[in-house]
Amino acid sequence: MKHSSINILALETSCDETAASVVIGKNSSALPKFSIISSVVKSQIEMHKKMGGVVPEVAARAHLQQVMPVTQKALVDAKLKLGKIDYLAVTTGPGLIGSLIVGTEFFKGLSYATGIKMIPTNHMEGHLYSAFGGGIDLKKIKFPLISLVVSGGHTMIVLMKDLYNYKVLGNTVDDAAGEAFDKVAKLMKLPYPGGPQISKLALDGKATINFPRPMLNSKNYDFSFSGLKTAVRYYLDENSKTSKADIARSFEDAAIDVLVQKTMRAAKEFKAKTIALGGGVAANRKLRDTLAEESKNNKLQFTIPPFNLCTDNGAMIGIAAYFRLLKGFKPVNYKKVKADSNWEIN
Ligand code: KG4
Ligand code: ZN
Repeated sequence: MKHSSINILALETSCDETAASVVIGKNSSALPKFSIISSVVKSQIEMHKKMGGVVPEVAARAHLQQVMPVTQKALVDAKLKLGKIDYLAVTTGPGLIGSLIVGTEFFKGLSYATGIKMIPTNHMEGHLYSAFGGGIDLKKIKFPLISLVVSGGHTMIVLMKDLYNYKVLGNTVDDAAGEAFDKVAKLMKLPYPGGPQISKLALDGKATINFPRPMLNSKNYDFSFSGLKTAVRYYLDENSKTSKADIARSFEDAAIDVLVQKTMRAAKEFKAKTIALGGGVAANRKLRDTLAEESKNNKLQFTIPPFNLCTDNGAMIGIAAYFRLLKGFKPVNYKKVKADSNWEIN
């Protein structure tokens, strides 16, 4: 790396958002610091709403139309020419394979044409590192840190020893947290994506139904949400007159209860000094507030992404790529880059 700062152009196309961003970071792992210079997100939600969920083939075609203008806008907003970019970071997994291929191959083409080296980046690592994107002073983050990463495809508790080392302690064994919100919303005939709909409805509801808290007391940090979803289905079948708001609130409380209690248990076991949150479900107000309160009660530092870094975006990919670099990752030739829909972090 030649300069004292590193200009990263990042692209994210793993699911239903085409997103690009310019992130500039200091070239020093002793003094890590970065800024998000631009962040452009083109959502496909309106398109997928009609089908009640993401249709992979439709998503891939929409990415194909959007990658170029979204990437250009990220550069224009950053007032940077492509020639000033040091590295091209792109989400190569996990996600929908057709969508991943569009972003990955587009950036490989850019890399071939410009000679700029690439940083293949993991989508979940993006969500994990997004917790540091709200302007927190990186040098003031206390470790160990426990992060709850909750998206439409994953539910993970992650232990971070420092900014560069992490270990996944637990995962979901079936549905992810966001997926549970989406499926329950569908059962309640609410539009896609269900998470924001359920949380809005829940604001007017009371927790009158005691839905199960799956795996709350299991001796590991894994989650399971399909049983909770099924409990809501049976309840809806048998109680057509109960207020929808009360059902939404009771479901949300059950899901958040398990997420928060297991996170705090991990924090205790690993003597964490900080709690972090990331992923689309981190946009949930109740989850943010509950985890903030628990952190405060336990005298722990708390860091979460601003709302625009919770659901999929390019900035989180730029941030994760920045930390990959500082960790010692050597950017690669485009020929070495390949989309991998099953790329799991551990
Ligand atoms: O991280 P993300 O944008 O995409 C994936 O990587 O999956 O997460 C999307 C998920 C969806 O399941 C959506 O329903 C959920 O995040 N979500 C929410 C809220 N906003 C988005 N879930 C609960 N409450 C919200 N406010
Ligand atoms: Zn995501």
